[in-house]
Amino acid sequence: MTMRLDRLLSELGVATRSELRGIIRSGRVSVDGAAVTAPEKRVDPETQRVCLDGEELRYRQYRYFLMDKPAGVLSVTEDRKQQTVLDLLPPALRRLGLFPVGRLDKDTSGLLLLTNDGDFAHRVISPRSGVEKRYRAEVEGIPDEEDVRAFRAGIVLGDGTRCLPAQLEITGGSVCFVTVMEGKYHQVKRMLAARGKPVRALRRLSVGALTIPESLAAGEVSELGEADLCKVLREYLIGK
Ligand code: URA
Repeated sequence: MTMRLDRLLSELGVATRSELRGIIRSGRVSVDGAAVTAPEKRVDPETQRVCLDGEELRYRQYRYFLMDKPAGVLSVTEDRKQQTVLDLLPPALRRLGLFPVGRLDKDTSGLLLLTNDGDFAHRVISPRSGVEKRYRAEVEGIPDEEDVRAFRAGIVLGDGTRCLPAQLEITGGSVCFVTVMEGKYHQVKRMLAARGKPVRALRRLSVGALTIPESLAAGEVSELGEADLCKVLREYLIGK
């Protein structure tokens, strides 16, 4: 399948489409070893070798990013009034068709995956995959051993919905850690509220064995490689 050179470089997140025209015209891009200065030149990313400043660019249909989502931002792809996680992305990444893997509430911060791979997203979200999501919660009151047992047995929410067994780690104070394998609407808040411990602040710390790199600032993204994806879904393979 061929595509325009400027579109390919834009999808690779090299720069925005308008910046790319300048980059290509200046002769910094080569295809199969020959400099190409026409942005509209058609190339086949599967079979041709495209280089920028002599470095090969590998085309990947599917991309995966980890964001440290700040509180106050919506985890949807667009909203007419409020800022979304896609608004926080650098312009070159906004055109990749990324969407959040599941939702974090507006006031929840922490690890949010973004991808354009629907199959991956589906598997991470599905309780059947058993991917654990771990949260740090600050609550009103002090969670105790009785709460731990209730989480282990499966909390029944205010509307009668029964949750899968989950893990509650207590600290002796108002901070606790919750690990769940499913993602019902406002799940962690509703589970703690069902125990009379309403949540004041919530942050997602990990998805599977994937955690937020210390070097990542709030609102920034870091691209994930195959090893990172295997931390989320052990059997996951890129290039399916
Ligand atoms: N559970 C919640 O209640 N809120 C979130 O954002 C995530 C899990």
